[in-house]
Amino acid sequence: MDKKTLSYPTAINAKELIKLFTYKVDNEIHLELLQVSHTIELFEVINKNKINLQKWMPWISSVESVDKFQKIVNRLLSRSIKGLDIHTVIFYKQELVGAVCLTEIDSVNKKADIGYWLDKSYRKRGIVSKTLSHFIHYSFESLKLNRLTIKCSTQNVDSNKVAQRLGFKLEGCFKEWEIVDGKPQDFNIYGITTSDWENSYRIKEA
Ligand SMILES: CC(C)(COP(=O)(O)OP(=O)(O)OC[C@H]1O[C@@H](n2cnc3c(N)ncnc32)[C@H](O)[C@@H]1OP(=O)(O)O)[C@@H](O)C(=O)NCCC(=O)NCCS
Repeated sequence: MDKKTLSYPTAINAKELIKLFTYKVDNEIHLELLQVSHTIELFEVINKNKINLQKWMPWISSVESVDKFQKIVNRLLSRSIKGLDIHTVIFYKQELVGAVCLTEIDSVNKKADIGYWLDKSYRKRGIVSKTLSHFIHYSFESLKLNRLTIKCSTQNVDSNKVAQRLGFKLEGCFKEWEIVDGKPQDFNIYGITTSDWENSYRIKEA
């Protein structure tokens, strides 16, 4: 690796990133940093869920072929390596079932946005909420971020529930923030700070 790809912002360093290459959530769920080796499996899961996922995440419509997708994976991996984002995939009983990410990591103001999605067949088991509670813990404790944000369409009931379940507070609503299904939709913005997390939701050390 050259010097350029090793220059991490202060909040993130190579050691922390490598720790996340495999992050055990519990006996069934683990996270892996998104890598080129995940391309085909991830493409298949996205393709299977494409209609549902692109409704809430319009970028999914650009996932058209494995070749094109590999370029996207490479770009996301490069953003993870540079500390701009952290893209991970969720494994449930060794099956790739979804993804969680930190995007727009701002190491000066110590904040980032959280994103997530799950294969339809694995929803309603708490997989994303359990995974995110560890991912948030990691973001505050290891990456030393101070604030995390979730933005989701007001129409996206399950995503709003995830934010609320994890203790994020509704901070406002962006009017007509994104075009979803061809129509401008309002987006809720949820936030949580490290002190809110410490006080109520922090994973207790064993
Ligand atoms: C958003 C999304 C990830 C939520 O999926 P989900 O399965 O509802 O979320 P979780 O995995 O956290 O599961 C929570 C559900 O499982 C239930 N559950 C069962 N066992 C549970 C457990 N041990 N712990 C927590 N929840 C549990 C919860 O009651 C909850 O159901 P409810 O919403 O009916 O109350 C999913 O709908 C999705 O991928 N949507 C498309 C992409 C998307 O919208 N992404 C977000 C963009 S902002």
